[in-house]
Amino acid sequence: MGQGENARAATGGRGSDLGPAFNDPASGKRNGPPATPFGRALPGPGEKSAVVWLSDQLPAMVHLLAPLNTLEAINQRRSVRSFCSKGISRETVRQLLAAAVRAPTAMHQEPWAFAVIQDRQLLKSISDRAKPLALAEMQRADCDAEVLSLFAHPNFNIFYNAGTLILICGQIANPMAVADCWLAAENLMLAACAMSLGSCVIGSASETLNTPPIKAELGIPDDMQVLAPIIVGVPDVAGKPSPRKEPRILCWK
Ligand SMILES: Cc1cc2nc3c(=O)[nH]c(=O)nc-3n(C[C@H](O)[C@H](O)[C@H](O)COP(=O)(O)O)c2cc1C
Repeated sequence: MGQGENARAATGGRGSDLGPAFNDPASGKRNGPPATPFGRALPGPGEKSAVVWLSDQLPAMVHLLAPLNTLEAINQRRSVRSFCSKGISRETVRQLLAAAVRAPTAMHQEPWAFAVIQDRQLLKSISDRAKPLALAEMQRADCDAEVLSLFAHPNFNIFYNAGTLILICGQIANPMAVADCWLAAENLMLAACAMSLGSCVIGSASETLNTPPIKAELGIPDDMQVLAPIIVGVPDVAGKPSPRKEPRILCWK
């Protein structure tokens, strides 16, 4: 099972965003670039047409478009679990962090701090360390067998091979830090969506990220904890937001 299919399994088969758009499922290789920047005029046997090739590329190119407005971003945001290999720049990360800290914060405490990891080797190493703990937690929670086998698979990357992981950390002693940091998290993810970037909370890595050796490795002080680990990258396939139930209204007096 490929990573995209694995990820699809993790989301109960819902995720149309999962799985690289232009991978060759038989060989596992990416289809090569087109003969011209606009694709080949006529596809050969088993090849994609230029139009299909270009439509595959669009998710990676839409960040060149104007940002979405607030309601568009709220309604279009979805968890993205499949990314282009090209990462995002430090400047883009700074823009996301600037959006995060615009969140409301109790008593204006701003009890957050951020760790940014873009070193792919380190991401892989954290993923490798996080998987056994996440797996044990899921076993305790009696999770679906398919999800368990996904986390047990040696090739599965808990960060879905995203090039950027942003950790929103909160002061442990501040009782409102959890609320503040999750508000910052949503701001960050909406800003990412508005900029045509994909994001996903990776709660399954939280336990590992809060172990003393990893906190020390990442420079997270003892009085802070990782609350919201969020991956960010350029989505490599277009996808639709997942459905929601109608809001349950308990009273409207
Ligand atoms: C606290 C929290 C933890 C999550 N942890 C994970 C995770 O470890 N791995 C993952 O693939 N998605 C994770 N997600 C993403 C959810 O699966 C996703 O938000 C949910 O299925 C709704 O889909 P949507 O975000 O596309 O609307 C997490 C989301 C939240 C809010």
